[in-house]
Amino acid sequence: MKKTKIAVFASGTGSNFDTIVRERKAGHLNVEVCLLVCDKPEALVVEKASQYGIPTFAFEAKSYENKEGFEREIEKQLKKLEVEWVILAGYMRLIGPTLLQAYPNRMINIHPSLLPAFPGKDAIGQAFDAGVKVTGVTVHFVDEGMDTGQIIDQEALRILDSDDRDSLQKRVQEVEHRLFPATIQKLISERGNQNEKKSTH
Ligand code: GAR
Repeated sequence: MKKTKIAVFASGTGSNFDTIVRERKAGHLNVEVCLLVCDKPEALVVEKASQYGIPTFAFEAKSYENKEGFEREIEKQLKKLEVEWVILAGYMRLIGPTLLQAYPNRMINIHPSLLPAFPGKDAIGQAFDAGVKVTGVTVHFVDEGMDTGQIIDQEALRILDSDDRDSLQKRVQEVEHRLFPATIQKLISERGNQNEKKSTH
């Protein structure tokens, strides 16, 4: 079966990026990871992509006049590689109209809370500080808001009395690493990919 071409956007450590690549290698995810897009050239995820031989577009926002400037450049790269789905895996930047229009309903994000609770940065710390007893992970479509798009799937996780921020983060990320690849695979197998769709018309 034809592999769906994806690009992963990330800004940091890249544990979710790593999981996606590993699950692909293990044959559990029918995708080709065509490109990593990273807005922090010094981030660990860039090193990971280079170890896997995955092409990277790393940029600094301040080198462009505005968001439209770097998003046009990203769009050019995505189109050149015929990328069909965009996967945000810890990309800590709001997506603007340029990319939203280029990938309508084909861009998803993972967030470490049960949205709509605790959107934005440091969702795990926000949940910990709020003293809630349950948090979790959400995968959702991307829209113009901050972690506000339509929810695709969620998994809850109990916060234990023994948890500190680090242990909670570790357990939340274990959920992410299971939920994200499974959700991506489900979505692409349900919706097919653009080329297959085209060939049926
Ligand atoms: C992940 O926990 C992801 O859910 C979060 O950033 C982390 C990236 O970790 N994303 C957000 O908070 C988006 N609002 P990673 O670099 O190890 O994959």
